Amino acid sequence: MNEAVLILGATSAIARATAVSFASRGDSLYLASRDEDELRRISTDLRLRFGVEVHFGLFDAEATETHDTFFKSIVAVMPNLSGVVLAFGYLGDQVAARDFSVGAKVIAINFTGAVSILNICANYFEQKKSGFIIGIASVAGDRGRQSNYVYGAAKGALSLYLQGLRNRLCANGVRVITIKPGFVDTGMTYGLPGLFLVASPHSIGECIVSSLNKSADIVYLPWFWRYIMLIIKHIPEPIFKRMKL
Ligand SMILES: NC(=O)c1ccc[n+]([C@@H]2O[C@H](COP(=O)([O-])OP(=O)(O)OC[C@H]3O[C@@H](n4cnc5c(N)ncnc54)[C@H](OP(=O)(O)O)[C@@H]3O)[C@@H](O)[C@H]2O)c1
Repeated sequence: MNEAVLILGATSAIARATAVSFASRGDSLYLASRDEDELRRISTDLRLRFGVEVHFGLFDAEATETHDTFFKSIVAVMPNLSGVVLAFGYLGDQVAARDFSVGAKVIAINFTGAVSILNICANYFEQKKSGFIIGIASVAGDRGRQSNYVYGAAKGALSLYLQGLRNRLCANGVRVITIKPGFVDTGMTYGLPGLFLVASPHSIGECIVSSLNKSADIVYLPWFWRYIMLIIKHIPEPIFKRMKL
């Protein structure tokens, strides 16, 4: 049976690739982000290329007071909604560590906004006793590093939240999958120094969709990041604190 999937942050490079992968299977989509023109373009492209049903609508992760109405409007046009992919994210920059107004935005988008909308989705799927939630966290959430620890802290908190949600929803037949990408070639990482083993959004999008056919709850993408992070997490703190990462 085909899925009907809401993608939050649908203009992101990883989300676009994920949408293509869903559409190529014949799944219906609801694409949401803050950029209406871009959403229209992506939707038209997917409809033309794959002949699938694609809706779109405006969504701002920071405007948590709008999330309830937003979700109701989706279910109204897509009553068979069967899954959600949370793809939005905001890296901020180095300033986030020193300027709280920037750090607060990083937390508001990556964590508070995510919890707000996923709570609503979770209640909906819990009542239906079916569905899936795929949350894109990050390897950055596995250990705090001086280069991006506010973003890392928000993504780490999102990973813990998704873990709790998985524990809550498991008995109700709702799947919660945590995706932890390493470096991916997108606007978010463009021009950043020190990147290595950079993956294409296309390969990440395909793996996100195929994770639904596998049993893993936490998926590192590409797979080898599980082992890189295993090593990084085991470096003793007295050594780690002196490293330039
Ligand atoms: N690229 C990487 O190396 C990497 C690594 C690990 C994890 N990730 C995570 O993977 C996900 C996708 O990343 P990406 O690199 O593909 O992103 P991207 O191309 O930089 O796009 C970021 C997306 O976040 C959306 N967004 C930002 N602020 C928002 C807000 N307030 N409300 C709603 N949407 C908002 C943007 O949508 P609009 O501006 O259109 O609203 C855009 O679609 C993110 O969660 C990111 O943290 C990325």
